[in-house]
Amino acid sequence: MVISFGSINMDLVVRCERAPAQGETVVSTGWLTNAGGKGANQAVQAARLRAETYLVGRVGSDAFGRDLLNGLSAYGVNVGGVTVDPVLPTGVAFIVVERGGENRIVVVPGANGAVGAAELKILDGLLQPGVVLLLQCEIPFAVVLEAAQMAHQRGATVILDPSPWESITLMPGVFTDVDYLMPNEGEARALAGTNDLDAAAAVFLGLGARTVVLKRGEKGAFAVGAFESPEVPAFSVVSVDTTAAGDSFQGAFAASLDQGFDPDAALCRAMAAGALTVTRPGAQQSMPDEVEVTTFLEARLRRGDHLPKQQI
Ligand code: RIB
Repeated sequence: MVISFGSINMDLVVRCERAPAQGETVVSTGWLTNAGGKGANQAVQAARLRAETYLVGRVGSDAFGRDLLNGLSAYGVNVGGVTVDPVLPTGVAFIVVERGGENRIVVVPGANGAVGAAELKILDGLLQPGVVLLLQCEIPFAVVLEAAQMAHQRGATVILDPSPWESITLMPGVFTDVDYLMPNEGEARALAGTNDLDAAAAVFLGLGARTVVLKRGEKGAFAVGAFESPEVPAFSVVSVDTTAAGDSFQGAFAASLDQGFDPDAALCRAMAAGALTVTRPGAQQSMPDEVEVTTFLEARLRRGDHLPKQQI
């Protein structure tokens, strides 16, 4: 079973040739609203890969919240653990996507910022040995740490996406309850205060993370710590929108571990899911299902790409 404990947002997306520079005005090529939020996105990807998936988080009592919960249920995510805040609005994210697919995101937390004791209690009721718990940092970081500790004590595997990194307070042992810390390059550099990715990973291991999986976008990924994997190249695809590619990666990694794949194979499946996600616009709506990931990997195998044996 996979549980995602985190944010639920409505994404307001503006597409343009390039993002405006400071003080500049540019004209958009189109805009859309779609379902997002790192916690919700990761849950959707896990559910799309047929893992039994629960989401614990909070929305406002507004139309965005209702639409988001309906959408999540339709994807097969159990939203029984999502509370409704009577005062705060549902979280929203403002996203600018450039022609090559690169994005810039500003999040307004709304109800996500009030996730706390009530949601921790719900999580406590769901945890059991063998659960894979997905955490991100769009809810208060103290609550993230409490969830990680609670899950670890109960024999769950804890995966933390340190995004947005600015909400994280680095202190000795901060990642002690984290089995897999999964930053992207920018987050790793900013959080560790170094441009050297190996050195950044070493900092995170020193702070208690058991394994660090560094997501390098189109350059691939590598892992160090209890599970080690040398730099695995990314699958090359035509990028339309990179939004939620990291969430797709995390959700697919969690679902694969839950389904008994070893970490090498889980990494490969995560890269395939992330690659497929960037070929489509949007967040949850861009995530591939089990058949698409398997078909993609089979095609890459036929092409002669080197993949871990157990990836399908
Ligand atoms: O990771 C992508 C997500 O970040 C978007 O869906 C947006 O809601 C923000 O949470």
